[in-house]
Amino acid sequence: MNQTVSQGTQVNAPAYVKNQKLIAWVAEMAALTQPKDIVWCDGSKEEYDRLCAQLVAAGSFKKLNPELRPNSYLAITDPSDVARVEDRTFICSERKEDAGPTNNWCEPAEMRAKLQTADNAVFKGCMKGRTMYVVPFSMGPLGSNIAHIGVELSDSAYVAVNMKLMTRMGKGVIDVLGPDGEFVPCMHSVGAPLEAGQKDTIWPCNPTVKYIVHYPATREIWSYGSGYGGNALLGKKCFALRIASTMGRDQGWLAEHMLLLGVTNPQGQKYHIAAAFPSACGKTNFSMLIPPAGYNGWKVTTIGDDIAWIKPGADGRMYAINPEAGYFGVAPGTNTLTNLNCMNSLDSDVIFTNVALTDDGDVWWESMTDTPPAHLIDWQGKDWTPQIAKETGAKAAHPNARFTVAATNNPALDPEWDNPAGVPIDAFIFGGRRSTTVPLVTEARNWTEGVYMAATMGSETTAAAFGAQGVVRRDPFAMLPFMGYNMSDYFQHWLDMGAKLQASGAKLPKVYCVNWFRKGADGKFVWPGYGENMRVLEWMLGRIAGTAQGVENIFGLSPTYADLNWTGLNFTKEQFQSVIGIDRAAWTQELTLHEELFQKLAYHLPKDLTQVKAQLEQKLAA
Ligand code: GTP
Ligand code: SPV
Ligand code: MN
Repeated sequence: MNQTVSQGTQVNAPAYVKNQKLIAWVAEMAALTQPKDIVWCDGSKEEYDRLCAQLVAAGSFKKLNPELRPNSYLAITDPSDVARVEDRTFICSERKEDAGPTNNWCEPAEMRAKLQTADNAVFKGCMKGRTMYVVPFSMGPLGSNIAHIGVELSDSAYVAVNMKLMTRMGKGVIDVLGPDGEFVPCMHSVGAPLEAGQKDTIWPCNPTVKYIVHYPATREIWSYGSGYGGNALLGKKCFALRIASTMGRDQGWLAEHMLLLGVTNPQGQKYHIAAAFPSACGKTNFSMLIPPAGYNGWKVTTIGDDIAWIKPGADGRMYAINPEAGYFGVAPGTNTLTNLNCMNSLDSDVIFTNVALTDDGDVWWESMTDTPPAHLIDWQGKDWTPQIAKETGAKAAHPNARFTVAATNNPALDPEWDNPAGVPIDAFIFGGRRSTTVPLVTEARNWTEGVYMAATMGSETTAAAFGAQGVVRRDPFAMLPFMGYNMSDYFQHWLDMGAKLQASGAKLPKVYCVNWFRKGADGKFVWPGYGENMRVLEWMLGRIAGTAQGVENIFGLSPTYADLNWTGLNFTKEQFQSVIGIDRAAWTQELTLHEELFQKLAYHLPKDLTQVKAQLEQKLAA
């Protein structure tokens, strides 16, 4: 098994691998990157346990106390490798205009030289001294006609075990691929070759050189230098959003940064909602929502927590699947009050990354419990006490600390989550993190107005990506970091999809804009959020059923105090006014930001959207 691979001819493929294109590609990549050996992942439990044990032996994983957290591990990253790197993410389309002004672009030939062909190309010999894992995965149910296969080659065992939890991974995928099936090649290296005798670090990565590269035309992904999350688990943002969005444009479907939930009312009627919130803005939480006291008989079930693939069905409705099979979720802020379903999902079989370690071998993160433990080892390996935190502001867990867990751990998993036919969407929700300006909930009056709301959405930046935090930026459709093509063409694609379905006589999903994050003068969130978001959801379902009322405002339609169900919550009219109200001055300012965005996106910007903007400006001035 451990032969040296230098010629690229012996790739150690198991007998069950019949796809010559795959074998040839692995050989070519091995010749380029020079790993010491190649391991083909079969996706078995034995393999998962073996790789985890190997990571423990190497010091990369700490096995947590099996009494408290069975079969679970803690990984601590290099401090330079804790989030997505948007400034190092590239869309290498042939034409710059096709990547659009919101993406970093580089000519494909120039990028290929840097990565593969130049004398000092970064992938040349980059796996020296390391094992190359061949990780076959399916985004979507195995063998379903809406699923797509990828194969990730990675020199990180951490990536291999995370992919096992996040996707359908292993031999079954190779069987579906058959002798001549198509796959998206996903090349990944941590960018830290080992010389003979060189001691490895616990989190190998390249602290200074990183590339997250997509070639939409040839549907290839090349990722170098990072081992973290969306940079390294290439099925997720790179494939299921950036590459898939271009496939969706070409084939008439949508790949979206959306959670998917089912909600069943006491009468047993079930609705399906897709919601796009930017990174670390509440998708996982909303998808696992537990209705508050007073909502007897209501039930929310999770289909997905991060990504949705949406295709028109024969009946003219939009059907969505979750292409993933696990959750890579934000740990800080998660507790039994905010997200009990999530906490229960984390009881066993979890990989934690960059959370704190308790003295009895369990994990902890900010706000996991009201009273923090008296002593911890923080995510940087330092002693942490509540007193130290008070004095230095040191965080026990990194703000972008995450858990990786299989969807099947979720007690609220929807029975349809794995259905290849998907679920029919009744409403789309778009929402950012805005401490001011944007009201709790607004319904778009029509599809075009809904697309406008989504296109102009702003949100305060979070720890999910490198860069300044808390800065408002436009994040159209919560897709700014994940678009695989020109943003204006994407707006047009949404308009076209709506027009096409409407022409077929179908009723389009309603579109809503929400904001859970308005703050009061005390700097605290006014809206209680989490389970209480059920009240907003119930209003939406009432609107869909035609029973709930609202009032028209400049931007759409919002509920009055009397239109929401307040059973079990003490929330005054004044508090409600402070989260639903529209401040004209703030919105006049907001529209200048829409204008800035539209100027940036002027190339191919749909006229329909500039028209909506003109109407809003008129109403605002009136
Ligand atoms: P990604 O995995 O990065 O795409 O994030 P996400 O959209 O799934 O966000 P997630 O649900 O993990 O929430 C991120 C942070 O926002 C956590 O710290 C949550 O506790 C917090 N959060 C989620 N929902 C709410 C809410 O309704 N109100 C408030 N105030 N905070 C929330
Ligand atoms: C996000 O940033 O939106 C995530 C986490 O879901 S990552 O997988 O790192 O992209
Ligand atoms: Mn996400």
